[in-house]
Amino acid sequence: MLSIRRTDSHFPASVLVANVFSIAHQIRPMLASKLPRIAFGGDYNPEQWSPEIWEEDMRLMRDAGVNLVSVGIFSWAHLNPAPGEFTFEWLDRLMDLLHENGILADLATGTASPPRWLNHQFPDSIPYDRTGRPFHPGSRQCYTPNSPSFLKYSRELVTALADRYKEHPALALWHISNELACHVGHSFGEADATAFRSWLQQRYESLDALNEAWGTAFWSQKVGDWEEVLPPLQTPTLGNPAQELDYRRFMNAAFLAQYEGERAILREATPDIPVTTNFMGAFKNIDQWSFVDSLDIASWDSYPDPAEARTSLGDPFGHDLTRSLKRQPYLLMEQAPSAVNWRAINRPKPPGLMRLWSYQALARGADGILYFQWRQSRAGAEKFHSAMVPHGDTRVSRAYREISELGEELGKLEALVGSTVEARIAIVLDWESWWAIEEPAKPRQFDYAELVREFHSMFVRDNLPVDFVHPEGDLSPYSLVVVPSLYIVTDATAENLTRFVERGGKLIATFFTGVVDEHEQIDPRGAPGKLRELFGLWVEEWDGCPRGETGTIAFDDGMTVSTSYLHEVLQIDGARAWARYGTGFYASQPAMTMNQVGEGLVYYLGTRIETEYLANFINLVAHDCGIRPILRQQEGIEVSIRMKGDQRFLFILNHRDERTIVDINPYCGTDLLSELFCRDQIFLRPYDATVIELDDDES
Ligand code: GLA
Repeated sequence: MLSIRRTDSHFPASVLVANVFSIAHQIRPMLASKLPRIAFGGDYNPEQWSPEIWEEDMRLMRDAGVNLVSVGIFSWAHLNPAPGEFTFEWLDRLMDLLHENGILADLATGTASPPRWLNHQFPDSIPYDRTGRPFHPGSRQCYTPNSPSFLKYSRELVTALADRYKEHPALALWHISNELACHVGHSFGEADATAFRSWLQQRYESLDALNEAWGTAFWSQKVGDWEEVLPPLQTPTLGNPAQELDYRRFMNAAFLAQYEGERAILREATPDIPVTTNFMGAFKNIDQWSFVDSLDIASWDSYPDPAEARTSLGDPFGHDLTRSLKRQPYLLMEQAPSAVNWRAINRPKPPGLMRLWSYQALARGADGILYFQWRQSRAGAEKFHSAMVPHGDTRVSRAYREISELGEELGKLEALVGSTVEARIAIVLDWESWWAIEEPAKPRQFDYAELVREFHSMFVRDNLPVDFVHPEGDLSPYSLVVVPSLYIVTDATAENLTRFVERGGKLIATFFTGVVDEHEQIDPRGAPGKLRELFGLWVEEWDGCPRGETGTIAFDDGMTVSTSYLHEVLQIDGARAWARYGTGFYASQPAMTMNQVGEGLVYYLGTRIETEYLANFINLVAHDCGIRPILRQQEGIEVSIRMKGDQRFLFILNHRDERTIVDINPYCGTDLLSELFCRDQIFLRPYDATVIELDDDES
């Protein structure tokens, strides 16, 4: 036993693209062949500016080292002012200008924000809220992906764009929509109800199967006719959790179908140009795993709050998640050059912080650093959002200076392109469990992302590389897999986890795992249902722990640790208890267990244990798996290694706003920026970051 010490779809588009999935892996090198450098640039919205300003933009971009810009993200109305009418001339000129200046285009399909005429002339495009009220045009993303008119006219635009620019030399990447489901993740109108019914008919085939899956015998909810099926609109009290879960699946499938429909058009016109869409990290509405097969390059937008720079360490979670999608280099598609304008209080990034957070992206596997946006708007809802070229005199602007300095530095980091982060630890992250566990009427209210983040931040703090993985994903690269509160467990998940452990893997699972199947139904044998044999226990009762209250668990040697959140009353059935509750009517009953299965081991934590202890515990299990931290943990210092062939690059990031010394033993090598040889100790300025190409011969 470990000894622990405190100190120590129904949419035809999916069919269309099925045969092109297999070439996705070859597409990434296609971007590298056009752009063999770290991509650097931002959202460029030239329609807000006159052509004289475009000329100045080209000069400023060249001076700043910009090599890739995202164009046309919100240009639908400018490219297609009326049904069937296209005005590409301005974009022709712009694309030519980019090419003349050696800048590549990440050309957007422009479908994130429909023009007013679409909502006005085709009301089925309008999204509805849960109370059944319509949203109104006048902002962005005013559409439902279930609208036949939206799909028809958006695809018309994409077809025309693809046809017009398929051979343009500036075209390097396609950018579908923008932050899918960001503002309207769910729509509850007539078009949605119709599409939901046909999605359900495909999924269940008969009303009997639907009634069974939704458990409609409860509260007299039996569905007698398909027309009685509605989206989960506002109900007098608790809704049907299986219906809610299916609605989330259905809306996710609708956004995926929107994406895949556009992608099929692009792929046909330009088989060699990669396609991406920018995700938002730990964002609940979109199941990013479901997009993986039809993404050529993963990308995301990162907006950590500069006000929390001291404690947040940037956003390593989003970076690790985006890298894990394809287990390949990805793009940081957007970040703020300084302040955003959408929080209640918005602080700028102090000098150095923008550079540090950019290096964090590189450290965790990105091949590109881009921003929102190039030139700061004069009008509209985002005019107070920082930009690479802010209002005022560019020659003396801090933001532009810091951007240009970074652009120049990135020119020295070409060697990083294509290198990857190799992790032997994975955290299981499952959107379906996320959706379902946060529905009300459980032993307590859950915040799934917080539970997952707790583990992730420990691995980051302790310099242990970590990936995320889908519950049915490939676990073979990993020695340690953590499964935080995986509420839904399917047969395939149970098999996957069991195989992993039988073959020698170590698994740490926590409370409220395996409670329901994919229909939100509890296994008659109780939790953890399909994982009962693997865990060697079952859960008899749950005791939700009120905020601020704690309990305890005690180990054989008398050490006690405090607990919170939820206490599971466990019945052992093969596992061995190694900590028992010290409080509650279940005092002296098992709280933490271990179970040997095949060559491997399962640790089960029936409650949330205090962070310091949990960190020690996961470190010891990692150690037991032969996994060592890259460097000893030092507060506010983040380290990471990227690899490519024989080359290894050590990143050291100082998240503290003070000068810091970092002991890099046993590593030594050449600092890629200063070209100086480094060994033993390095000095980092406040918010500094460095990349060292390692020599082979460290001990
Ligand atoms: C998101 C959007 C951008 C812009 C930024 C502002 O990331 O994609 O269009 O609104 O937020 O932070």
